[in-house]
Amino acid sequence: MTEPLILTEIHGDGERRTALIRINRPKQLNALNDALMVEMGQALIAFDRDDAIGCIVITGNEKAFAAGADIAAMAKYDYMHVHQTEYITRNWETLLQVRKPVIAAVAGFALGGGCELAMMCDFIIAADNAKFGQPEIKLGVIPGAGGTQRLPRAVGKSKTMDLVLTGRMMDATEAERAGLVSRIVAADKLIDEALSAAAIICGLSGPSVALAKACVNKSFEGGLRDGIDYERRIFHSLFATEDQKEGMDAFLSKRAPQFKQR
Ligand code: CAA
Repeated sequence: MTEPLILTEIHGDGERRTALIRINRPKQLNALNDALMVEMGQALIAFDRDDAIGCIVITGNEKAFAAGADIAAMAKYDYMHVHQTEYITRNWETLLQVRKPVIAAVAGFALGGGCELAMMCDFIIAADNAKFGQPEIKLGVIPGAGGTQRLPRAVGKSKTMDLVLTGRMMDATEAERAGLVSRIVAADKLIDEALSAAAIICGLSGPSVALAKACVNKSFEGGLRDGIDYERRIFHSLFATEDQKEGMDAFLSKRAPQFKQR
């Protein structure tokens, strides 16, 4: 029997729980092939639609989050194939349709498409053994899953050029200093840390969490004025929700809010 390409688990005991997706090609350092990305996309969409899920975590194993797109598969592709099948766009970018928060819990290698997959997530929690890089230049190509666009927004032009043009790796400390990752934890605490961040998110108002994510993405992906106008419209619209009334009333009454997810 062939091993499943991803493993999924549900964690938590509240009304809304966390879905954990583990990338599962350990022998290939979790290199990301087409079939895996299709499966991951399907799992992500199913969790996004499931009212019992409040947050999603994507992880690999202690050695590799993912060492990139599958080079053995790509080596056979030609221009017409990648163009006609919309390689990357077709299945990797399903992740970008997810409205719930997606946390990348990264241990070991996050290289090439692995680093890009982590950057498509909403934030990255890194184990102290994490290594990030965009080594595609060494294969005679360039990052192809958004790396040349998302990395400079996260770490600035100079460090991006350094990483993309030399193909070198950076460790977790450098990645945190540069702003690529939100926190570093000991490798054996990585999943616990990601699940406790996710549990906090699960306990909040789902609609405001999804809209907060959309607003931050508007800033990350677009210009300042558009982003502020978008944020203001969303902010105003949240005053139509029951959760806004409840959240503010609970604060003033010095009690914990009981969010109704509407
Ligand atoms: N694709 C396919 N197989 C991969 C892989 C990848 N991206 N990365 C590692 N593997 C395989 C190796 O071929 C090897 O397989 P075999 O045992 O069958 O030989 C196995 O995983 C273990 O790898 P190594 O023996 O190389 O392990 P190492 O510890 O010596 O080195 C490493 C680790 C530095 C991460 C090295 O494996 C490496 O450089 N991998 C490639 C990294 C890379 O170039 N990533 C970018 C891919 S291109 C891309 O992602 C395009 C895009 O933007 C979408």
